[in-house]
Amino acid sequence: MSHTVSTPILDLLATILSGDAPTLPSIYTAAGGTPAAGGETFDSHDPSTGRLIARLARGRAEDAERAVASATAALPSWRDMVPQDRGQMLMRLAEVLEAHSDLLARLETMDMGKPLSAARGDMRGCVGGLRYNAGWADKLQGITVPLGPDFVDYAELEPLGVTVHITPWNYPLGMAMRSAAPALAAGCTVILKPAEQSSLTTLAFAELCRVAGLPAGVVTCVTGFGAEAGAALTDHPGIDGITFTGSVATGRRIGEAAGRNLKPVVLELGGKNPILIFDDADIDAAVEVVLDGAFDNCGQVCSSVSRVVLQRGIHDAFLDRLVDAAKGVTVAPGMEDAMIGPLVSAEQHAKVMSHIESARTNGARLLLGGGRPAGLEDGWFVAPTIFADVDPASAIASEETFGPVITAFAFDTEEEALALANRLTYGLVAGVFTKDIDRALRLSRSIRAGSVWINGWFIGGLQAPTGGTRDSGVGRERGEAGIMNYVALKNIGIRIRR
Ligand code: NAI
Ligand code: MG
Repeated sequence: MSHTVSTPILDLLATILSGDAPTLPSIYTAAGGTPAAGGETFDSHDPSTGRLIARLARGRAEDAERAVASATAALPSWRDMVPQDRGQMLMRLAEVLEAHSDLLARLETMDMGKPLSAARGDMRGCVGGLRYNAGWADKLQGITVPLGPDFVDYAELEPLGVTVHITPWNYPLGMAMRSAAPALAAGCTVILKPAEQSSLTTLAFAELCRVAGLPAGVVTCVTGFGAEAGAALTDHPGIDGITFTGSVATGRRIGEAAGRNLKPVVLELGGKNPILIFDDADIDAAVEVVLDGAFDNCGQVCSSVSRVVLQRGIHDAFLDRLVDAAKGVTVAPGMEDAMIGPLVSAEQHAKVMSHIESARTNGARLLLGGGRPAGLEDGWFVAPTIFADVDPASAIASEETFGPVITAFAFDTEEEALALANRLTYGLVAGVFTKDIDRALRLSRSIRAGSVWINGWFIGGLQAPTGGTRDSGVGRERGEAGIMNYVALKNIGIRIRR
């Protein structure tokens, strides 16, 4: 087990925990952390209080240029490292990350708002993700191709090259690690563009890569806004691939940039995920699953339970029990470690509140919540909220809310349930609760989604592929599929002279 180390950037980050609001040299290239070329900064806040906690470098095209130059220069040495050695170096990085996970978890909570124990769980996931992918480094075997006696033909898996990773704020370091870990294991260099709301742990990670001994430039980081730093990276002709997690609108823009430059792209976008609960379901288990699926991370999860689709026979009883259980969900600033914290930002708070208002004006029946929890006047809090009798055509039933809001619907037949599940253009995750195995498997094939979870939620892990269909995205992450995003097959054909 490694020990924590002290470096100028890590020390500055640690001052945030004691109440300072430092200006961080947060454009991170082969030269280490620097201010932005233009000298501009932007603010990051603690969502639990609205307090300023750091000023970060506002990256633009010139900063993106420096990061791409660093990542390009670092590529040959990283790509050509003996794969087993590369894997060992990532194992070492996982150790360094683990040693600093207390600092990282506290920064994540302060910057993004999630409860401290959830942030600690995220950090365990990051360490595990690094170790899982490090194991792939020396297992990327290609194929041999039988072309007959006159040829030897084989295909090697070669690293894609310089990869750009645009990440969201809901799992700041978690999302960065989900794509950076396989990219690094495959031999790619990685440019991270964290979300402007929550960049601190990504910056810390870039510094910890240096601490762990990764060659300078293998992992770089450009902080700043999406339309500036993000677009400068995704539009850059010198990169070899893009991975993005975030909104559908931004996903389309990034897809267009990838199309213009003919770069491969992985897009994990939003969802409005339905869970279909049938009369024969285990209701206690379903209530527990919906509660966790809808309110975990304050509903700011692409795979949150959002639409609870209930068969008529259990509709009322289920909602009674759900409301009772949801009354027990505690809300508090992240450092107080309740079950949920605030939303990430004033903008997200305004968006969620506008969805709640529109549900009300559309005649949905409010069963719980609907606004700020009592006693939490500062910060961007929204109480767990449940609506029943929701019009399936209303905005609250169709658009991603990304907050602690459940919408409930009733159905009579399996066909109606399926139609409700498939009525939107999203297709990320869907759930089925039933004891009828035939029905569960039938629906798992006819629901249009990248994942279908049966009698549970958040089923998956480092090994299971995840991603969306239709408007929810392109490509799969995690598991073997995740690592394959960062390699390309190169065919080598040899003529045998006889
Ligand atoms: P966003 O998709 O705009 O931001 C995500 C990341 O993309 C950030 O790092 C941002 O700086 C970057 N970005 C934005 N515009 C860009 C551009 N033109 N080029 C390159 N990068 C760009 O999402 P935002 O505005 O933070 O949240 C809006 C909504 O998106 C949320 O309310 C939620 O519904 C959804 N969302 C979905 C997430 C998911 O996990 N699927 C995560 C975060 C947000
Ligand atoms: Mg913040």
